[in-house]
Amino acid sequence: MYTIPSHIDTNSQEFTENLAHYNKILAKHRMIMDQVMKGGPPQAVRKHQSRSKLLARERIDLLIDPGTPFLELSTLAANGQYKESFPSAGIVTGIGVIHGKETVIIANDATVKGGTYVKETIRKHIRAQEVAMQNQLPCVYMVDSGGVFLPNQAEVFPDRDDFGRIFYNQARLSAQGCPQIAIVMGSCTAGGAYIPAMSDETIIVRNQGTIFIGGPPLVRAATGEIVTPEELGGAEVHTTKSGVADHFAENDQHALSICRSIFETFQPGKRQNLDIRPPEEPLYDPAELPGIIQADQKKQTNPYEIIARLTDGSRFHEFKARYATTLVTGFSHIMGYPVGIIANNGVLFAESSLKGTHFIQLCNFRKIPILFLQNITGFMVGKSYENAGLARDGAKLVHAVANANVPKITIITGGSYGAGNYAMAGRAFEPHFLFMWPGSRISVMGGQQAANVLAQVKIDQTQLAGHEVDLDEIEAMRQEILQKYETEGSAYYSTSRLWDDGIIEPMQTRQVVSMAIATSQNKPYDDPKSGVYRM
Ligand code: COA
Repeated sequence: MYTIPSHIDTNSQEFTENLAHYNKILAKHRMIMDQVMKGGPPQAVRKHQSRSKLLARERIDLLIDPGTPFLELSTLAANGQYKESFPSAGIVTGIGVIHGKETVIIANDATVKGGTYVKETIRKHIRAQEVAMQNQLPCVYMVDSGGVFLPNQAEVFPDRDDFGRIFYNQARLSAQGCPQIAIVMGSCTAGGAYIPAMSDETIIVRNQGTIFIGGPPLVRAATGEIVTPEELGGAEVHTTKSGVADHFAENDQHALSICRSIFETFQPGKRQNLDIRPPEEPLYDPAELPGIIQADQKKQTNPYEIIARLTDGSRFHEFKARYATTLVTGFSHIMGYPVGIIANNGVLFAESSLKGTHFIQLCNFRKIPILFLQNITGFMVGKSYENAGLARDGAKLVHAVANANVPKITIITGGSYGAGNYAMAGRAFEPHFLFMWPGSRISVMGGQQAANVLAQVKIDQTQLAGHEVDLDEIEAMRQEILQKYETEGSAYYSTSRLWDDGIIEPMQTRQVVSMAIATSQNKPYDDPKSGVYRM
């Protein structure tokens, strides 16, 4: 492997301007994150704490091994929606290490509308379970929730990937040998009662945790019986009479220590062996990344300069350096973990697809996880390219991405547009993780292009009908589309709707990628399905 030579001049005007631009993006990002990490409104937080309950993120901190990081997913889910009344969609999810074992942790935030579930809460919960399934991880559910947010029931209850899917996933995960542990630290009503009931082992906190299918008001309305929550389904009842819970905890701290104790009983499973080396800092400082990302999206950000700030020692063994140069492929280590990198360096051509396909096969055989650094406007368009079979070759890459037998990790560093999104392991291709950098954008095409396409269609239609084209009307339509794409193409719009696993700062990428690969080792990678074809 060789060290990538960097050609960045940190004193140049371009670097300074890019840096100033990206620093504004980062400042806004940190402001939004700070606000969201506070959870629900101050009065709800005070009420929660007055009950001697820990906050969701405090509970997670106490559960995981001291000094280990927590890879939080989709912190900004539901951001910009519901008049900001659902920070983090009322649920904290992510991967933490418990007794050395990567674990999916799902914790309701009861300070957010009683921990109830809107559409994004469900999506986030189910996404976390998908991560558990793909990587064969145990799950801990910290339950403190009023269940479905009742006014929005139509968006959270009836469909396949709605509330019921949580319990289906629990059953499937348990059957696959992924332990399901519930800690009932608050309310757990109606369908929510199935989370502890479906778990392999359940802990419940005295005077805080309750589990019932129908709460006291419902019981009274249905049968006339008057009963307190504790009598109906408190910790005493469930650990002595009903058997719905297995462990009685005095308080949150005690419950968390019981959960850690349960983890001590797990036996090690099969893992994927990787050539892990001592981690090494890149030769070039990752803090320079904001000055390297082009402020003007029309200018190509040099992927070598990014790779040089992500990989150990800034080293890279490039594959086919001289061929199809708009796609950069090669091997490196990131924080000691081996990785195959596929990075965009311009539009995709037929030969870039062949190069990418060949490289993915190498990763499949060597069992090396693939990191996609996505900054792509799409495939090259035009008669000569189409006539030469652009779609035929593009399809090879899309096949290879879909069928890769090694974990895929996608980072959208710039733009993610059109079929380029598919070829570079967009969400539909089930990468193990997909994160976006703030300032990155995602949509079917750029706003300008979409506005122009629709304007052209309208002009053609009008002329075909023999009418005169009203240019003001066309311009108004263009502006409307531009505005819509501006809003909907933002990373914040995406992350709010769970189209990704979260927005990360460029400087956090090394840590995130290494945690993602470490997590993926919990399931041995499949064997490749065919030999390496030279494309
Ligand atoms: N749907 C919609 N909103 C709900 C809700 C639900 N299921 N449960 C609670 N909320 C809202 C409350 O209206 C309140 O909103 P506000 O802050 O705008 O006033 C907020 O969540 C907090 O509720 P509150 O009752 O003040 O908090 P609490 O901590 O004392 O109690 C619960 C929380 C969840 C135990 C209690 O609200 C409750 O029992 N809710 C009903 C649960 C239920 O029957 N769910 C069935 C769903 S299938």
